Amino acid sequence: MTKLWGGRFTKGTDVLVEEFTSSISFDRRLYREDIAGSIAHARMLAKCGIIEAAEAEAIIAGLQDILAAIEAGDFTFETALEDIHMNIEKRLTERIGPVGGKLHTARSRNDQVALDTHLYLRKELAAIGGLLCDLQAAVLETAARHGDVIMPGYTHLQRAQPILFSHHLMAYFAMLARDFARLRGVWERTDLMPLGAGALAGTTFPIDRQMVADELKFGGLYDNSIDAVSDRDYILEFLAFAAILMVHLSRLSEEIILWCSAEFKFVELDDAHCTGSSIMPQKKNPDVSELVRGKSGRVIGHLMALLTTMKGLPLAYNKDMQEDKEGLFDTIDTLKFSLTVYAALVAAMKVNAPRMLDAAGEDFANATDMADYLVKKGLPFRQAHEVAGRSVRYCLERGKKLTDLSLAEFREFSPMFDADILAAIKVETCVTARDSYGGTSPAQVGGAIARGREALGGQLALLDTYRRKVI
Ligand code: ARG
Repeated sequence: MTKLWGGRFTKGTDVLVEEFTSSISFDRRLYREDIAGSIAHARMLAKCGIIEAAEAEAIIAGLQDILAAIEAGDFTFETALEDIHMNIEKRLTERIGPVGGKLHTARSRNDQVALDTHLYLRKELAAIGGLLCDLQAAVLETAARHGDVIMPGYTHLQRAQPILFSHHLMAYFAMLARDFARLRGVWERTDLMPLGAGALAGTTFPIDRQMVADELKFGGLYDNSIDAVSDRDYILEFLAFAAILMVHLSRLSEEIILWCSAEFKFVELDDAHCTGSSIMPQKKNPDVSELVRGKSGRVIGHLMALLTTMKGLPLAYNKDMQEDKEGLFDTIDTLKFSLTVYAALVAAMKVNAPRMLDAAGEDFANATDMADYLVKKGLPFRQAHEVAGRSVRYCLERGKKLTDLSLAEFREFSPMFDADILAAIKVETCVTARDSYGGTSPAQVGGAIARGREALGGQLALLDTYRRKVI
């Protein structure tokens, strides 16, 4: 096969080298963006008088035919043509004749691949943003539905203080809201137009970069041509965003896996979201959560891989950078899958409220409240802590709970106890009383849910502006 760059070579490429250097097996995903970018480029070349209007028309019609052929599954991608850019350009010339060769005027594959990846990531960011909002909505509505369910909150995976289950879920909402904010940042730095950088130094032709940016609805231009073709920060930022989001989903997965176990029995997943065992007939396994937890590893790996690839690269383009794509594509697929399946899983999850409440009443999760009671009567917190600690030890030795103690027993530990101590250390009181801003009281969580709904509305409105820019 004759290469588009064959002129200076005296012999053909080794087949192994062809296979090794080729990226068509994965970068064919960029075909829509590649064609959209080429059409915008051809229009600009004609508008600037660099090619004839009729030539641009022939090129654009040819590109549209190729697009239709690819979408109809009627296009053969050739490994020997290396990548998506040359596969399309070569076919264009075969179809429309030598005029097809004018398309690559004032352009290099270096700025072309950058343009394609920016366009592609912009499209995927809009889609991922939507899925992220869906998951946030599922978390928020599940929290609202179980607004008053009490569970033990944990530190060190030991029961610590009673909390609302909805408060716990809203912590995930807050984490996901930060993920969305990070996605916004990625969008801003992806919404920049690199074409016109040429190989690295710009071009001798009187091009109009702003026109291409406008055609493709970009928010701005890369200012420096070398940076435009060397930059992979936007991909790194996306991978970092994705890795953090996957870590959030992995932590939620870990909790759900624990909560589904017979030891906890806090939630039950819908049968549709679990799988069985080929040997143990009784098993219902939380495989989805385990896989999401597991897949966080590969996304973190993709971030590490690209950081490592980039760290030693001199400016400008180096072929190493072709390695940016597989990790990016796999991250996009993994993230979309994980977000979609999780929104459904969380929404359908059954909550065992009595079991959670029972657990919250065990293991002295109300001991801090006992100490706080004394502090409110004037005892310094450190002494109150000591009194509550001794009471706990007393109960442990007798197999009692703090709420089993008589007033006489309470008074053995401190004369400051009155009959109202029992009400003060009831699990419900422990929750209601934590009414500080951002705390677990029903009033605070209700406020958080209301603010969350509003924030979600803002996110969806922003996503609309993103979707309108997708090519
Ligand atoms: N397939 C290449 C990539 O993905 C396109 C850019 C190639 N440029 C070059 N001069 N080899 O990075």
